[in-house]
Amino acid sequence: MIQSSRNVGIVGMGISLPEKILTNFDLEKMVDTNDEWIKTRTGISERRVAGENEATSDFGAAAAKKALEDAGLLPEDIDLIIVATATPDMYFPSTACIIQDKIGAKRAAAFDISAACSGFVYGLTVAGQFILTGYYKTVMIIGAETFSKILDWEDRSTCVLFGDGAGAVILREVQSGYGILSTNIGAKGADGMCLTVPACYISESEASKRKPEKQNTLWMNGQDVFKFAVRIVKHAIKEALEDCNLKIDDVDLIVPHQANDRIMDSAAERLKIPREKIFSNIHKYGNTSAASIPIALYEAYSEGKIKKDDIIVLVGFGAGLTWGSAVIKWNR
Ligand code: UT7
Repeated sequence: MIQSSRNVGIVGMGISLPEKILTNFDLEKMVDTNDEWIKTRTGISERRVAGENEATSDFGAAAAKKALEDAGLLPEDIDLIIVATATPDMYFPSTACIIQDKIGAKRAAAFDISAACSGFVYGLTVAGQFILTGYYKTVMIIGAETFSKILDWEDRSTCVLFGDGAGAVILREVQSGYGILSTNIGAKGADGMCLTVPACYISESEASKRKPEKQNTLWMNGQDVFKFAVRIVKHAIKEALEDCNLKIDDVDLIVPHQANDRIMDSAAERLKIPREKIFSNIHKYGNTSAASIPIALYEAYSEGKIKKDDIIVLVGFGAGLTWGSAVIKWNR
């Protein structure tokens, strides 16, 4: 974080989820799987799935409108929209530009960032700099995904894991001592090929991982990503806490990327904290990638699990491989 006399915090939040619910029992009829396997290996019971005519920008825009309402702001108040997504509507225009139009944020600059499941924390970090430097006053970060559109629905090892949805937050200057205390983002591209979706170029090795007619679908070596996740969650949290001179015992709630309940169990063990200090809503939504942290943060706050003065840690990890964490002293 740059040194600044300003403090940046979240002043509004909103979420949007598809209406359609796909349960583990529905999946039993589609692939060779069962509710018990999915629940015990991941914690997921059901997920939301976009309709054919629903796009990432639809959920992003709906979440954005709710965040504006929550903050008591107008679309014209927004200086910049950053959308974290791995499932943009189009290569271009960016999903941020599409959402800018849908919500009528005419003054806002807009761009997408690509950091998969770490995208929201990357976005928060980037957005924070604009306010800390005084360049912008009001920045919106949206995590929005429709992973249902890039899944191979015949691949049981991946199609049971993911879901669709969006969460948005608005950042502004807040009172001294509150807001984002530190962030930590990182990447290890060398290990990136364990979680992939080809776009314009499909290498021979990527082609060999998929059926010929499904070359642009998601492929994952789940165990490699799992091992990375359990190691990096502890590392990312420790780094961000050290940067703001706090200890794990100072933390009131960790809101992690919702990829697997067993990753969260392991994080609790490794960090030596009670499991209740790690928020989970994966049972309802599965892994919504860049949307999972803002959706979880919104629900934790709405359920009264986050109060003013609490120390909250966000932590994301995923394709890239990437990771990101943020420590926030809650200001609302
Ligand atoms: O958001 C990005 C970050 N993503 C993650 O963090 C995901 C990290 N990885 C994981 O969460 C876990 O590795 C998975 C949930 C993906 C898989 O769990 P696992 O305990 O690592 O299972 P596995 O891949 O070792 O598979 C165990 C068995 C295999 O059968 P055999 O070879 O033991 O006979 C699989 O074929 O489970 C089988 N299997 C399934 N069985 C029923 C795999 N998928 C399914 C399924 N239903 N859906």
